[in-house]
Amino acid sequence: MSLWSEFVNNKQRTIHKWKHYFPVYEAHFSRFVNRPVIFLEIGCGRGGSAQMWKRYLGPHALIVGIDVNQECKTFEEDQIKIRIGSQSDTSFLESIIAEFGTPDVVLDDGSHRMSDVVETFRFLYPRTSPNGVYMVEDLHAAYWDEFGGGLKREGTFIEVCKGLIDELNAEWTRDALPATEFTHSTLSMHFYDSMAVFERGRRLPHSDVRISGRAAILKGLIR
Ligand SMILES: C[S@@+](CC[C@H](N)C(=O)[O-])C[C@H]1O[C@@H](n2cnc3c(N)ncnc32)[C@H](O)[C@@H]1O
Repeated sequence: MSLWSEFVNNKQRTIHKWKHYFPVYEAHFSRFVNRPVIFLEIGCGRGGSAQMWKRYLGPHALIVGIDVNQECKTFEEDQIKIRIGSQSDTSFLESIIAEFGTPDVVLDDGSHRMSDVVETFRFLYPRTSPNGVYMVEDLHAAYWDEFGGGLKREGTFIEVCKGLIDELNAEWTRDALPATEFTHSTLSMHFYDSMAVFERGRRLPHSDVRISGRAAILKGLIR
């Protein structure tokens, strides 16, 4: 069943999602269906989203939800674990990884405060599976003052992402920008209405290939 069907046919706890997120979820999460995925959701709301991820991802998935609200602990069931703490508390996040292992997917649907989103990303992104996905939603908050946002305001997650685009391409900057762990561990960055997605993966050495007729000239560049 598609994720959208799981959502609209929900008969369990309440889920609160924007409709336009569903094609994005499917595009980036479908490869984890029926896999032994560790899915870390920041922000449990009323508990329905964790149940939706469980139904969608299948019997081998472990959904780990974190939230500041103690009541969320009651959302625990088979395949769903909830821990109480703040996304900006790095020792709490460390304990989550120590207990459940490296997350394959991180979905940040927590406070949406820019300082929290940025701190959480800085800490969790390098600790996400080398072939994993990191998704941040509700990034309209990056433009709203009450969340620490604002158009082109320094420190919002959108502004951080603009810098990360350069980091993704650091090896082409003729030493203007040193390559970082982010450069070497990130395959792609995707931007949608209110969402940012990072696909992790091992980057291959650059080589450009010129092919003419049956002869191929392989020219290694860089590294
Ligand atoms: C938008 S709701 C999550 C909705 C849910 N994921 C869904 O799709 O139905 C945001 C949640 O983030 C939690 N939250 C707020 N600040 C947080 C923080 N600093 N760390 C972790 N969770 C936080 C709130 O208690 C709330 O449950």
